[in-house]
Amino acid sequence: MRKKIVAANWKMNLNVEEGKNLVDGILASLPALSETRKVVIAPSFVHLGQTAAQLEEYDHVYLGAQNCSTEASGAYTGEVSASMLKSVGVAYVIIGHSERRGYYSETDEVLVKKMQQALSNGLQVIFCCGEPLEVRDADKQNDFVEKQLEAALFQFDAEQLKSISIAYEPIWAIGTGRTASTQQAQDMHAHIRSVVAKKYGEAVAADMTILYGGSCNAANAAELFACADVDGGLIGGASLKADSFLAIVEAMKNL
Ligand code: PGA
Repeated sequence: MRKKIVAANWKMNLNVEEGKNLVDGILASLPALSETRKVVIAPSFVHLGQTAAQLEEYDHVYLGAQNCSTEASGAYTGEVSASMLKSVGVAYVIIGHSERRGYYSETDEVLVKKMQQALSNGLQVIFCCGEPLEVRDADKQNDFVEKQLEAALFQFDAEQLKSISIAYEPIWAIGTGRTASTQQAQDMHAHIRSVVAKKYGEAVAADMTILYGGSCNAANAAELFACADVDGGLIGGASLKADSFLAIVEAMKNL
């Protein structure tokens, strides 16, 4: 059965104390989860040790990282390897986020290397894709996202795909308060699933978890998650408050 996931992407927000309080607030009211209803919390690196300790006794709540190095180890000042992340208790890593692609010029080749590192260290990957506004306005989003999948995701085989979820995040919806409509989200998620099916077959596509991200919040999560091909969300701004994040988790739990 396809896994549903709500993942918090804190981005570069919260100091260590604020992060601890947020996780405490979430855990205090977290509904019961299951093998197919999971929560991932991806704070920045400095929080990881503390958050790992906080999550230790909670089932189906996983620690995530927002990035990992392309390299295994060595003289790469400022980098953090996938094996280091694994050693601190990280289970998921976000790769291909539009902010990394854009602000840090991460190419498809870089994303492939990062995914190789993550997978070879036993991490699950949340692979992000999504088009900028000008592509949406030109109604070229399907081709654009298909090319992103071909260039990075399709370098992996069907077995490796079992450890990868996709997050569709239209760039024009990230942090803007402008969410994709349920129709836009469903159409793109169905397209992504059909592209995966064309390459790997129907069974692999049917099992693929495809998250929506981009101004997903407590008010719109239930409606978005009700779409047949939307399997949860990758949440930025609304993951920084326990109440709104919990409401989104609740929407996923009820699917
Ligand atoms: P947002 O960010 O929820 O703040 O739009 C989502 C993301 O970039 O993962």
